[in-house]
Parts: sequence; structure tokens; C-alpha cells
Amino acid sequence: MKEISIVSTFSVYNSIQELPNDVQDLMAKAVNIRKKAYAPYSKFRVGVAIFLDNGEIVLGSNQENAAYPSGLCAERVAIFHAGAIYPEAKIIKMAITAASDTNKTMAPIPPCGSCRQSIAEYEIKQDTPIEIYFMGESGEIHKSASLKNLLPLMFDKKFL
Ligand code: THU
Repeated sequence: MKEISIVSTFSVYNSIQELPNDVQDLMAKAVNIRKKAYAPYSKFRVGVAIFLDNGEIVLGSNQENAAYPSGLCAERVAIFHAGAIYPEAKIIKMAITAASDTNKTMAPIPPCGSCRQSIAEYEIKQDTPIEIYFMGESGEIHKSASLKNLLPLMFDKKFL
């Protein structure tokens, strides 16, 4: 028997103002689209802005449904949107922000497990890392330089 240890490293920014200028702009777009989320059930709004290597920015927000599991997280709305419109483009970075209508969300909100798996598919497909910045309503922003940090031991096509 032996043990393996997997280390994930994140950068922590104290506020939006500390981010590089291009990421500040991307996060501002994520904040704007977050406000348009369709979240009548959870009142928890998530906004995502994705920057592609063709210079385009693609947005997404969570879309809920009265049949709860039929709704979709913002990260997947955004990344499927990008994959549908620009199938050849590589994703360079994504900015994520989440806020509740009922309480203040100051902690950085990382993507859920299903969204991590979906982002992993695109990172493997393009064979270059996707930078992921995530924030609550405001406050600290955490950056993962690759999806691999967020999903060690990921399942991907090499196992098929
Ligand atoms: N949600 C996201 O959009 N992204 C996540 O990573 C976690 C959760 C959404 C789904 C649902 O509309 C609401 O937040 C509450 O779970």
C-alpha cells in the first residue's frame, strides 16, 4: 500500500480591484448577467462570462424550472452556449459570480460538481488549461489556473 497526495493551488484576490484589468471587465460582465438569472425558486443567481481565444465573450446565467432538475447552472449554460456558437474556439478564462436575493454571499462560490465535469470536457478537448475565477456577490475572488485543480482524479474520455 502507498498513499498519494494531490495538491490544489488557488490564487486569492481581495477584491475585484485587485484583479488584472481584463479579468475585472470579465467579472463585471458576469455580475451584469447574474442579475438576469432566472432563479424564482432558489433566489440564488449565478452569472458567468467566458473569454475565448477568438476575442469573443460568451455569457450565461442559471435557468430554473418548476420541475427542479430540469433547470441548469450558469456555468453549463455559458459553456454550452460557447461550444454551440464557437465550436472551434478555445476557452481562455471564465469569471463566475453568485448572489442570493435573501442573504449576502461574500464567500467565493465554486462551480458545482456537475459543472466541473462539464468544464473538464472542454479543457480536455482543447488541451489547454481554462482559468477559472470565482466570487460571491463581492469580496474575495479565488482563481484556479486549470479545471484540474477543482476536479482531481477526473473522469474523461481516456477511460472509455
Ligand atoms: N447554481 C449554479 O448556477 N451554479 C453552480 O455551480 C451551483 C448552483 C444554481 C443552480 C440553481 O439555479 C441555484 O444555483 C441554486 O442551486
